[in-house]
Amino acid sequence: MKHLLKLMDLSESEILDILNLADQLKYEKKHNIEHKYLEGKSLGMIFQKSSTRTRVSFETGMYQLGGQALFLSPRDLQIGRGEPIEDTAKVLSRYLDGIMIRTFEQKEVEDLAKYGSIPIINGLTDFAHPCQVLADLMTIREYKGEFDNLKLTFVGDGNNMANSLIVGCLKVGMRVAIACPQGHLPDSAVLEFAKAYGDKFTLTDDVKKACADADVVYTDVWASMGQEGEAQERKKVFKGYQVNADNLSAAKNDVMVLHCLPAHRGEEITADVMDAHPEIFDEAENRLHAQKAVLVKLMADK
Ligand code: CP
Ligand code: NVA
Repeated sequence: MKHLLKLMDLSESEILDILNLADQLKYEKKHNIEHKYLEGKSLGMIFQKSSTRTRVSFETGMYQLGGQALFLSPRDLQIGRGEPIEDTAKVLSRYLDGIMIRTFEQKEVEDLAKYGSIPIINGLTDFAHPCQVLADLMTIREYKGEFDNLKLTFVGDGNNMANSLIVGCLKVGMRVAIACPQGHLPDSAVLEFAKAYGDKFTLTDDVKKACADADVVYTDVWASMGQEGEAQERKKVFKGYQVNADNLSAAKNDVMVLHCLPAHRGEEITADVMDAHPEIFDEAENRLHAQKAVLVKLMADK
């Protein structure tokens, strides 16, 4: 693995290797075992969109691994004044050991990898959020012990989270059901990918049907970053695509509820469901451990 651009690029064993290392790093952190695997290394972090979890977990993760992280705001970088991504990639490759980028188009992330000569990590695009799904898989395995045949149901917008969950969960042997309204389906390339998994993947607009017998129910905001102008319209379209007690009653008794956060209580998830499922905050914590594993895999001296 040279980069983390999207989960489609990774094999099942590469994903499992990251999760195993993440478990090890979490154990080491908890027991104060020093793990400065990235001493002297620098990660640049370019954020074209807001972030709480991704920024703080990458920054503290690099520090815990003995390296440093530089927060690079496009307002201050020359990218913001039109310097091409190609030149930026070439120049930053001379200073840094890796770049994490959060932006809009997946192509920008792929271009950084194409023109630069250091590892590139996708910290979220409109298409994918691979770091989040690695933390999600880590959390699911912590709670359930294994992946085989577990059913994850995603309720809501067929967005970057839905795209990455479909790919990540199918790759590790889970079943995936998506409940989303017509016109808001996951990306066509992801639906094509899922075809190879036969009836392990289902797509419906019926939330209760999708939640039937689910081991994990997942949701995300109805309006993603960049779609703020559509928020009112989306509230109407997605009404009913909510993780609430009624829809959850169709799932298994020991269902886990996950949310990448930030959440809008009363929209895609009710406050009572959020409060009854503290695993959502284990999931948020695991961003740190899963990303440290990605950083070590990509940036440690071999
Ligand atoms: N889940 C997630 O990526 O959170 P942030 O937007 O706060 O980084
Ligand atoms: N779909 C959301 C995820 C936030 C972590 C967004 O892109 O804004």
